[in-house]
Amino acid sequence: MNIQENISLLPYNTFGIDKKARFFVQASTEEDIKTAVLKAKSMRLPVFILGGGSNILLTQDLEALVVKIEIVGISKVSETEEAVFVEVGAGENWHNFVLYCIQKQWAGVENLSLIPGTVGASPMQNIGAYGVEIKEVFQQLKAIHRETLEEKYFDWEACQFGYRESVFKNKVKDQYIITKVVFKLKKTPVFRTEYGAIKETLNTMGVKTLSIKNISDAVIQIRQSKLPDPREIGNAGSFFKNPTISEGEFENLQKEYPDVPHFPQYPGIKIPAAWLIEKSGWKGKTFGKIGVHKNQPLVLVNYGGGEGSEIAKLSKQIQQSVKEKFNISLHPEVNII
Ligand code: EPU
Repeated sequence: MNIQENISLLPYNTFGIDKKARFFVQASTEEDIKTAVLKAKSMRLPVFILGGGSNILLTQDLEALVVKIEIVGISKVSETEEAVFVEVGAGENWHNFVLYCIQKQWAGVENLSLIPGTVGASPMQNIGAYGVEIKEVFQQLKAIHRETLEEKYFDWEACQFGYRESVFKNKVKDQYIITKVVFKLKKTPVFRTEYGAIKETLNTMGVKTLSIKNISDAVIQIRQSKLPDPREIGNAGSFFKNPTISEGEFENLQKEYPDVPHFPQYPGIKIPAAWLIEKSGWKGKTFGKIGVHKNQPLVLVNYGGGEGSEIAKLSKQIQQSVKEKFNISLHPEVNII
């Protein structure tokens, strides 16, 4: 294991922020992780776990041992008549895993194509897109406790999944390092095309017979047309979560804005944060090297050389103006560090 000192994290975060790690190490086995944790302890430094770096905003250098999880491997562990159980290393790239499933004809993750990040980070915030969330295919995960180094398995219940939420962002926040995830995939697909844009895109693609490959291709097309590619423009996907308001609050909002888009989300109504941000006048606004994306205002962007602190400041200003205009609070989905 090669511990490096004063390493720029620029290649390791999709926002493209140039902040440094005091120490940096790549861990390709569970043993590597344990060794790194012990090493950090002896150096009296905190451990900072890094996956694909696609959901963080760095506002400062990290006085820590940054451990980049590189555990790879995809293997079928068991199967039934209907399902296959597949164990995946936490360091595998999420989209590569999706493509692997499509090639094997294992269904369930095709709607989640092209989401940046790693497999290990996916249960953390119950990633979701186009009508599907990871909790629908999740079976269990393996994790290492950061203090005791004990290995523990979390089943579906234990993960306490919610909208972009899990126990790992709440009750056991910063306590475990996820090393492996087992997914339950279907041998016979159940196509999920109810999310508006998918149907339209399949139509324009001229698709007659549905397949998981077609759906994946449609999702890729939609994402590429709406969302900036982090390799070209730094970003971390949706910066905020979509807020849920009460029915009473919604009725008042609808009186003033009859066209407000909304989705029932028991017990309340979900309002797209993108709409609130657009109506507050931020869509496509640029401030020096950073800004609000022109096609999807829920995405904050770094055009190159921007500072994390500037993006954090912009996010506060957006929260404040949405609060003033609509009396609705936006909460970041991205971890601001
Ligand atoms: N909208 C606007 N203006 C815009 C864009 C969108 O008003 O410029 C409104 C429209 O009413 C649209 C609605 O926002 O119908 C929803 O937009 P979209 O379908 O793009 O989805 P979203 O709610 O903004 C969520 C996820 C995305 C995911 C998409 C597709 C969250 C925080 N974000 O965005 O996830 O890809 O749905 O399923 O839930 C991510 O988490 O990083 C992410 C990209």
